[in-house]
Amino acid sequence: MDTRDILLKALKKNKGTFVSGEALSHELGISRAAVSKHVAILKNTGYAISSTPGKGYVFRENPDLLLPGEIRHGLDTRIFGHHLIDYHTLITSTNDRAKELASAGVPEGTLVLAEEQTAGRGRKGRPWFSTAGDGICLSLILRPHMSPSEASRITLMTAVALSETLLGLTRLPVLIKWPNDILIKGKKLAGILTEMSMEMDQVDFVVVGLGLNVNSPPDHFSPEVREIASSLLIETGTTWNRAALVREFLKWFENYYSLIQGQGFSAVMKRWKELSDIIGRDVTVDMLGSRIQGCVEDVDDEGVLILRDPSGIFHRVISGDVLLKDI
Ligand code: BTN
Repeated sequence: MDTRDILLKALKKNKGTFVSGEALSHELGISRAAVSKHVAILKNTGYAISSTPGKGYVFRENPDLLLPGEIRHGLDTRIFGHHLIDYHTLITSTNDRAKELASAGVPEGTLVLAEEQTAGRGRKGRPWFSTAGDGICLSLILRPHMSPSEASRITLMTAVALSETLLGLTRLPVLIKWPNDILIKGKKLAGILTEMSMEMDQVDFVVVGLGLNVNSPPDHFSPEVREIASSLLIETGTTWNRAALVREFLKWFENYYSLIQGQGFSAVMKRWKELSDIIGRDVTVDMLGSRIQGCVEDVDDEGVLILRDPSGIFHRVISGDVLLKDI
């Protein structure tokens, strides 16, 4: 925690009551002028803090922003969220920024967050739209000790961690759609875009990008998109604290990430299968225009879909879009 985070914590602890500049300067071991300078910066970033001469400072309201101080407040992780949190009100793509930071050598656990993206990307170069303050656009930097082929498991693991987060907090019956969409009643709530950089057949870094529709009202989506996409607000009728969602996701993510590195992937895969409800279903998979129909026999540990077509031939499908009416 840096000085400003500690100051914020001290002010929040006394929410609604004045704390004198002198008491804060004593608690933080900095001058009163430095306290005043940090308070001014906090106000600029959106925190409602009043200052009255002779009385000091009073913390009034948390801003509904994904600010580093908001994410760190009450964060229950060991690594994720404790390193740099690179926060932007507007950015092209958090994945692009995360790749830049990762190439510059930042440590595992670095997090990039944005209120809005101008060039958010999804799988297969599709756009990912976000409007300021409505959703979560997040990218995490990982440096896993695994082979590039094993790294595809991180996408499956992320889908599990996000589903657990949403099931736990919202109780919505979310499902994973292969390979990595999170659906509610057949509509997309979230998507995951994992990108990897390799050096000499070794993983250098992995960037896990996550887009979640949180407080988007129905008119955020065009009529066509409204048929296939939704948000937590639309599904529950209530707004959700985005920083709390990020904290909970980081907790689940860290748990599963240490599980796969310590004990292997089988427990995560088992949970993925429960949450995807895809095994045994008849599906059509669209692979850039060509389609295969069949029954899903299994999804292997690399996330490959094993499909048996009506003539009994098995197909290994590495990438594509599953067309399935009832999930
Ligand atoms: C998909 O559904 O195809 C994946 C969507 C992933 C969107 C997220 S938003 C944060 C991160 N930055 C990006 O540009 N994309 C991912």
